[in-house]
Amino acid sequence: MDTIAVLDFGSQTAQLIGRRIRECGVYAEILSGTDPIPEHLIDQVKGVVLSGSPSSVHEDGSPRVHPSVLSLGVPVLGICYGLQQIVHEAGGRVSRAERREYGRSRLQLHQEHALFNGVPDGFVSWMSHGDSLAELPQGFVMLAESEHGLPAAVRNAESSIVGIQFHPEVSHCEYGTHILRNFAVDICHAAQAWSMEQYVDTARETIRTTAGSESVLVLISGGVDSTVVAALILSALPGSQVHLMYVDTGLMRAGETEEVTKTLEQLGAEHIHVIDAQDRFYAELAGKPDPEEKRRIIGDLFISIQQEELAKRQIGEGFLAQGTLYTDMIESGKGVGTYAKVIKSHHNVRSPLVQKKRDEGLLIEPLSWLYKDEVRELGRVLGLPEHVVGRHPFPGPGLAVRILGAVSPERVRVLQAADRIYIDELRKRRLYDEIWQAFCVLLPVSSVGVAGDDRAYGGVVALRAVVSVDGMTADVYPFESRDILEISARITNEVPEVGRVVYDVSSKPPATIEWE
Ligand code: XMP
Repeated sequence: MDTIAVLDFGSQTAQLIGRRIRECGVYAEILSGTDPIPEHLIDQVKGVVLSGSPSSVHEDGSPRVHPSVLSLGVPVLGICYGLQQIVHEAGGRVSRAERREYGRSRLQLHQEHALFNGVPDGFVSWMSHGDSLAELPQGFVMLAESEHGLPAAVRNAESSIVGIQFHPEVSHCEYGTHILRNFAVDICHAAQAWSMEQYVDTARETIRTTAGSESVLVLISGGVDSTVVAALILSALPGSQVHLMYVDTGLMRAGETEEVTKTLEQLGAEHIHVIDAQDRFYAELAGKPDPEEKRRIIGDLFISIQQEELAKRQIGEGFLAQGTLYTDMIESGKGVGTYAKVIKSHHNVRSPLVQKKRDEGLLIEPLSWLYKDEVRELGRVLGLPEHVVGRHPFPGPGLAVRILGAVSPERVRVLQAADRIYIDELRKRRLYDEIWQAFCVLLPVSSVGVAGDDRAYGGVVALRAVVSVDGMTADVYPFESRDILEISARITNEVPEVGRVVYDVSSKPPATIEWE
């Protein structure tokens, strides 16, 4: 299939570039920025995008595009750092700008170019750069200029290379997707042959050829991602070949284990292994308040339990499938370019079982290039019900990262009770689907209140509700005050251990969605 190769130099938005191009119906694949294009893709690649990067071309060892890529003879679009590398290599000058350009910038278009077909002069772009183009290389022409008079778009003499200083992939950039479409369709002439149905067909075919007659184990977390992976695998292989394993850590939402089991049965699974490991998780987490330590304990225990159970049940020799998303990879510093920074450790990425399977070539991760809403669309194409595909994301370590401080069965119970009311109210008020993620957090403090005529010393619950496209950035959901007041009142009335409810009004960044 015609493909646009997006070469990743460590940008947090490389995948977003790919996703925007796919939104235009053109298949895009993210590849390592510094390697040649893999042999099997060369004939399919109709154009190349060089992503941005946290690096500067002036730093020693900053990543560079492999020279073979520029001699493929297909059009190249450099974005931000991608553009700066080209200019630097071609003899132009990139300098630390005296003024960083960050955020919205209105662009003046100087010359007509297919990249800007249908884009009006003065459109608002989105900038995020410290280095700027101080001098263009010979033969390069400026196509657009920023509000601060800096080059915002350039091309070389033959127009085989175009470069832009702004980020068309971010949602704040006007005409951003349109510009990427112009590149992929009008400049590279790539066929618009990509769709989710087509993705499902290809993914099924890949799963069948990869797995052959070997067994496939799917690790189920209860979230959308692993359910969609299970549905995909079960739609590609006979049920007898597929084992689904779900570890009940005791850190799930109220009633979740029952719901997960029901969904799996409806998917036609023949081998469902539900493991009740609550007591072991609670015992190991007792008295451990540190967030990273909690994550590590849960990740390690998860893995030992899996291994014990796999050995006991004599399964798991063959392939392992899991629903890792691209955002899980970058947030753990495992993006393609390996330059992204570690923000939080995700146990499904660093697990030794997963690593072992990866090393042995026995890992199937069919969602690792998709964004959450693409996974939902995939689930819908596979016929999963809306209440399953529409579920809010839930973190691997579960409620443990929503109980600040040490976890205990009692605190889990209190949080589950408050959280169940919150989610129930959001569904009743038809707000659930407007929100990307909503949950309660149990704080490690108590506060004074009154119960009847007495002073009471009760727990504090924070409500979180955010809107987001992919979890990478998020805004606070602007509740009507009546909704939040009524929800809060129901929680304090029905959960006696909670004496106070607060609403978290922080966006991401600077905060993260979860509190730990
Ligand atoms: P943060 O809190 O980093 O979360 O803004 C971004 C998204 O990732 C989820 N999340 C996790 N998911 N294991 C997971 O599988 C984890 O350790 C983890 N930590 C955060 C979070 O719920 C949000 O959707």
